[in-house]
Amino acid sequence: MKGKVKLAPSILSADFVRLGEQVAEATRAGADYIHIDVMDGHFVPNISIGIPIVASLRPRTNLPLDVHLMIQHPEQYVSQFADSGADIITVHVEACSSLHRLIHSIKELNVKAGIALNPATPLTYVEEILPYVDLILIMSVEPGYGGQSFIPSSLDKISRLRKMLDNKKLNIELEVDGGITIDNAPGIVKAGANVLAIGSSIFNAKEGISQTMQIFRKAVS
Ligand code: DX5
Ligand code: ZN
Repeated sequence: MKGKVKLAPSILSADFVRLGEQVAEATRAGADYIHIDVMDGHFVPNISIGIPIVASLRPRTNLPLDVHLMIQHPEQYVSQFADSGADIITVHVEACSSLHRLIHSIKELNVKAGIALNPATPLTYVEEILPYVDLILIMSVEPGYGGQSFIPSSLDKISRLRKMLDNKKLNIELEVDGGITIDNAPGIVKAGANVLAIGSSIFNAKEGISQTMQIFRKAVS
């Protein structure tokens, strides 16, 4: 997918007491998506947030809500996330036994459908489903926690996926999630990513959200 790189602040690292304000600040600072991490304590060891937070954020920003489901049995919840205001729903291929059916049902909800891959899941696992999705998310850390270090081999995986998408002439979004910093962001974009989900590097930065977003924007432009 060509065009400007999209920044998707990941609210997992936000201050939840000031979530509305921080999302509004990220929106004003030029975010493209708001990335929302949903964890169930089963697919990943951690528990985070869910449907009510998506519904509460919906009126606070005009940006697309990019909902990343790190949960088992995502098929049981996608319609509730869509009703709450999700614009993109991304499910983990490792959590789905009938991925084709699930992607179809997400699209029937008039929501964009994404698939996510854990670091150890090979690209071949999703090759057949690529023509049916709007977005593919490469996890560059083991999902479950913010603030982890970027797994270096992810860069090669991103490049191979970019080639695969180009070869198949598929104009879908390539999102990378986990361990993104000002320093490694340019290389991730160069490898072929066009959406960056960034948590701790934005919300825990001492420069604050707005200034950090500007630094990221410059770094990837
Ligand atoms: C991790 C989540 C990420 C997380 C990234 O499982 O999917 O979206 O917020 O956080 P950082 O950018 O701190 O690695
Ligand atoms: Zn995420």
